[in-house]
Amino acid sequence: MTKVVVAGAAGGIGQPLSLLLKLSPYVTELALYDVVNTPGVAADLSHISTAAAVTGHLPKKSAAEDPTSEDGLKQALTGAGLVIVPAGVPRKPGMTRDDLFNVNAGIVRTIADGVARHAPTAFLLIISNPVNSTVPVAAGVLRQHGVFDARRVFGVTTLDVVRAATFTSSVLSRVGGQATRPDDVAVPVVGGHSGETIVPLLSQATMRGARVSGPGAQALAPGTPELAALVKRIQFGGDEVVKAKNGGGSATLSMAYAGYTFAEAVLRAAAVPQTPTAAAPITAETYVYIGPGSQVAGAAQVRAALGSGDAALDYFSVPVVLGPAGATQVLDPTLLTRVSDYERELLQVAVKGLAGNITKGLEFVEKNP
Ligand code: NAI
Repeated sequence: MTKVVVAGAAGGIGQPLSLLLKLSPYVTELALYDVVNTPGVAADLSHISTAAAVTGHLPKKSAAEDPTSEDGLKQALTGAGLVIVPAGVPRKPGMTRDDLFNVNAGIVRTIADGVARHAPTAFLLIISNPVNSTVPVAAGVLRQHGVFDARRVFGVTTLDVVRAATFTSSVLSRVGGQATRPDDVAVPVVGGHSGETIVPLLSQATMRGARVSGPGAQALAPGTPELAALVKRIQFGGDEVVKAKNGGGSATLSMAYAGYTFAEAVLRAAAVPQTPTAAAPITAETYVYIGPGSQVAGAAQVRAALGSGDAALDYFSVPVVLGPAGATQVLDPTLLTRVSDYERELLQVAVKGLAGNITKGLEFVEKNP
């Protein structure tokens, strides 16, 4: 029984994401919020013969424009169990995710403020870029309202994990001569969600649940041109889509798939009864708060592995275990101590980039209380 809100539901990501959520057995009510077009998107989706009831919501109009207008954000959020946010502007060719900050930070702040007021215990999933900075913005707003819980606020980095599996599978087939399907392959991806802050840990890649071996492993060995090219492709895969769309935006359909996959994992974990005999844990990579007081068990170990004192990072994407309370624990707090030397170098670059991105988000919240 979960009411799910999509904020930014009329957009390139929002529409296919809403379609996928309408198909989910975990969603009983789907509230679509955007500054435009949600009545139409909601009417369209509501004709699909699955259980979720669909409603469309718009922001409150000024009294001069329409004195009877309701606060659509409040209506959408009231009673919500999960809020997913693809609201904001996407990249155009030549832009970095960071270029989107000024517009998108304000949008995320407004939505997080609504969540704090009307759905303070909901899971909040941030897609709006730059995720490295917008998640600290959302967390900062919730903290100002006294309702922040690190287990419930997620930066959606799933698309990096999806791309890593797809691109690695293609290298394993082509160079390693191993016939694989993308969904045979899993690569932990840690760090953040932009360029060099994205760190795929290919030394830990698995194929059908087992560590990659044979010629495939050789193709992924440190020092090979294949490995360097693969890492670069995973880090900058988003640019391929921006370039191919030629001014028409960034990834929308693959992002809707990734966002749905992650939201569905959070919902499924919330629906699983807490029994010690429960099946394999539900896990996912996500960008979470790992700073002092984080309720995600194992966060302090991750933070310690990344640095110490003032230089330490407060947000990082790692594989976590999902449970009824959200991201209850880091799946393997020692993961970062077992990386290759090459990956350690990649991590150092990522940490530098992330530190600036996080500070930018935190300063925005401080300056705009
Ligand atoms: P889009 O422009 O097609 O859609 C954005 C939607 O947000 C529009 O319908 C717009 O009306 C709405 N919107 C704008 N201001 C709003 C507000 N104040 N409240 C509610 N809705 C508002 O953009 P697209 O392609 O759907 O991308 C959305 C965001 O997702 C971008 O910031 C993009 O960079 C990001 N993104 C994130 C990815 C990730 O892996 N986390 C991957 C791809 C994109």
